[in-house]
Amino acid sequence: MLTFHIRRQTPADAAAIEPLLDRCFGPERRQRTVYRLRDGIRPVPELCFAAVDDSDQLLASLQFWPIRIEATPAILLGPLAVEPKMRNQGLGRALVRHGINEARRNGHRLCVVSGPPDYYRPYGFVPAVPRGLVMPGPLEPERLQVLELVPGALDGVRGLIQRDERDAGAGDADAATRQARA
Ligand SMILES: CC(C)(COP(=O)(O)OP(=O)(O)OC[C@H]1O[C@@H](n2cnc3c(N)ncnc32)[C@H](O)[C@@H]1OP(=O)(O)O)[C@@H](O)C(=O)NCCC(=O)NCCS
Repeated sequence: MLTFHIRRQTPADAAAIEPLLDRCFGPERRQRTVYRLRDGIRPVPELCFAAVDDSDQLLASLQFWPIRIEATPAILLGPLAVEPKMRNQGLGRALVRHGINEARRNGHRLCVVSGPPDYYRPYGFVPAVPRGLVMPGPLEPERLQVLELVPGALDGVRGLIQRDERDAGAGDADAATRQARA
């Protein structure tokens, strides 16, 4: 059975994370709509996680980014990336569960994800488009999902999902990854 543990990312992890993201999503990942929400913005420092083996080798990565839904602060889950050879052993699910728990513990209220609905439904994510959330740019609508980290957090919240510029200035999304603080 695979043994791993989850720890916060450090700046030193960037050298392994960027190639992992390229392997998982392809280099064209930077053209994806979600990257427009991340570009030049730092990930949420306390919500950047690495799943590592006993030798501290990176097996999987999960980050969250600050966004807004109109004026309401929220977080964007992803990218979630599991080393191709290590898939279907529970790494992705462990990271998502840990990340959502930590997001709640840190007082975040709403979480958005663009990803396979079958994968995220078990955590309580629901389709976001029927609830009036709008993603800026091309996206398969069924992939856009939202989770209330606090019951009722979505009440009265609808509209455009936007970049959260409050902590902008990190350069591109890769630079932001490098600057993820431990
Ligand atoms: C999707 C991904 C994160 C899953 O991670 P993983 O560690 O292999 O998954 P886990 O072992 O935790 O979970 C396996 C379960 O997820 C399901 N699953 C895996 N990929 C899936 C997908 N794309 N859509 C729906 N379900 C998926 C499996 O069928 C399995 O289901 P089961 O528990 O009912 O048997 C991983 O395949 C990956 O990195 N893919 C490339 C990048 C990506 O697509 N990221 C997610 C988009 S946000």
